Amino acid sequence: MKGVILAGGKGTRLYPLTKVTNKHLLPVGKEPMIYNPIKQLISCDIHEILIVTSKEHMGDVVNLLGSGRELNCDFTFKVQEEALGIANALSLAENFANSEKIAVILGDNITVKSIKPYVEEFIKQDKGAKVFLKKVEDPQRYGIAALDEMSIIEIEEKPQKPKSHFAVIGLYMYDSKVFDVIRSIQPSVRGEFEITNVNNSYLKNGQLTYNILQGDWTDAGTFESYEYANKMLFEVGNQIL
Ligand code: DAU
Repeated sequence: MKGVILAGGKGTRLYPLTKVTNKHLLPVGKEPMIYNPIKQLISCDIHEILIVTSKEHMGDVVNLLGSGRELNCDFTFKVQEEALGIANALSLAENFANSEKIAVILGDNITVKSIKPYVEEFIKQDKGAKVFLKKVEDPQRYGIAALDEMSIIEIEEKPQKPKSHFAVIGLYMYDSKVFDVIRSIQPSVRGEFEITNVNNSYLKNGQLTYNILQGDWTDAGTFESYEYANKMLFEVGNQIL
């Protein structure tokens, strides 16, 4: 299995922190934010990692990460020319994935506990995708899963009237069909190719499994969540447990 970290986007909600740098290079705890998803993938024994980021910040990202030798992994880099959405950024991973399954992490999603057991579960899943759910207080900010007993019925992106408090967080696993699924979706009203539409497509085909994420999690895309991410990673010394 290979890993993909999506670190494009504009980071507008953290302005002016992101005026001259990429959100994923900001410090969280004692390290740049992007180290956390990298360490999460390494904790799952995934060492071949593609980083997608914007043209403006690719130079800084490469300067920071290099080949991966220092972190014991092997990086490939791809430029997303325009911030056209998470699914658009993921589409750039097709050649890199080379028909293998992939674990995808949004570069601003911070975790402290290894998801290795779920990666192992997904390696055994013969096809489809897997997402992770986590209870949140502010469901309007996320992709939210409408649940019936134990199954997901539908995922809604930033719903005004959320049907649950379970967010679909930014850690996903896909089989090689994901790139065909991305080609089949249309941009949303905000003009982005939404990862939620990709996940809903797997759901419709009965091929989406999920786990409730164990251990703390946050995104770090707003000032409030960024502050919480710092607290989380200072507490664990920037380690994945
Ligand atoms: O954090 C989990 C949430 O992330 C999910 O619950 C939502 O379903 C999902 O849409 C996403 O919501 P956000 O509004 O928080 O996404 P944001 O635009 O902040 O992008 C998240 C990361 O994805 C960001 O760190 C960089 C990457 N990204 C984003 C866009 C729009 C790209 O690489 N390229 C892009 O074009």
